[in-house]
Amino acid sequence: MSRERLLTTIEANRGVAEASPSPFYAALLERMAQDVRDGGPTWELLAPHADEPASEYFPFRALAGVHHEVLAGERPELARHFPSTGGDGDADAAWPGVRAAFAGHDPDVLREMPHALQTNETSRCGALIGGFCTVAATTGLPLRVLELGASGGLNLHFDRYRYEQGGLALGPADSPIRFTDYWEGGTPPLDAPLEVAERRGCDLHPLDVTTEHGRIALLSYVWPDEARRFEQLGDAIRVAREAPVVVERASADEWIAAQLAGGPAEGRATVVYHSLFWPYPPQPVRDAIAGTIEDAALGATAAAPLAWLRYEPSADASSDVELRLTQWPGGEDRLLGIGGFHEHPVRWLG
Ligand SMILES: C[S@@+](CC[C@H](N)C(=O)[O-])C[C@H]1O[C@@H](n2cnc3c(N)ncnc32)[C@H](O)[C@@H]1O
Repeated sequence: MSRERLLTTIEANRGVAEASPSPFYAALLERMAQDVRDGGPTWELLAPHADEPASEYFPFRALAGVHHEVLAGERPELARHFPSTGGDGDADAAWPGVRAAFAGHDPDVLREMPHALQTNETSRCGALIGGFCTVAATTGLPLRVLELGASGGLNLHFDRYRYEQGGLALGPADSPIRFTDYWEGGTPPLDAPLEVAERRGCDLHPLDVTTEHGRIALLSYVWPDEARRFEQLGDAIRVAREAPVVVERASADEWIAAQLAGGPAEGRATVVYHSLFWPYPPQPVRDAIAGTIEDAALGATAAAPLAWLRYEPSADASSDVELRLTQWPGGEDRLLGIGGFHEHPVRWLG
């Protein structure tokens, strides 16, 4: 029964890889499924998690562990085949080495098993910037930005990236992270006086990209053959290392309560924001976060405004991701844009 469930999970994960597209991982997942049928090392490694839902991505966690070792230079025989290390992308040739890593119950593989895959997707700044610019334009104040579920903190550097559209431009002209004509149907106010006075973030499992382990861990979650995402993530890590921001280890409900304890800051526009974070915490944590923000909003004034910016999946569970902004005083809630989970054009509705 458990074995059948695991095979269904592997097949679901394979579908995700195929759609991404990651033909390399899709092919490895096929080998993993056969190995589970044969009772091989993949079965031994994943059997304790066989009844977990497919959305926990245990097969991908196992592959991320192997990918970590490949990126760290510990498996040269696999580096020859992993596209992320310049390999030939031959999954058949890679499979014996991947199977051996599973068979050895390697510490790096096992280290990835207990916690969820932790991507930090810089492309979401292409959407979030529409909200930050709207707050800057409507308040005229420097921003105090507070990110929930910040992972490696890469999206706390959104103003160090370059945005260009419709004759407008924002951010350093030589930034390696660039969003050109990212929006459809209009352009966010990229000419707003955007200044970040303070930036902070929290995560249950923060990754410190200033360390080699943190850098490799974050890269290991990206599919090895998604060359553009891989390159962009590497560039974003370099930008983050130039001006490191510590992502605090904390649950977002407790952390935001502490950040907003004194109410919104005078002379700054406080922006609480998150992207692809909301589905993860349990309902009581989400309720506590919403309650804290609503309480703090009672103290918001024109000189100490508060905003809640979200880039999160729509409630109807379609593949749309909505950019929403609520601003106080006033409490007006606006749907500013609609985009996707990864790099994608965003429709501007603001
Ligand atoms: C899918 S990742 C998104 C990361 C980042 N926001 C992005 O868009 O790239 C979700 C993040 O939420 C974090 N997370 C989940 N529950 C949390 C909680 N209760 N408090 C803080 N962070 C949490 C996870 O550790 C993970 O880093």
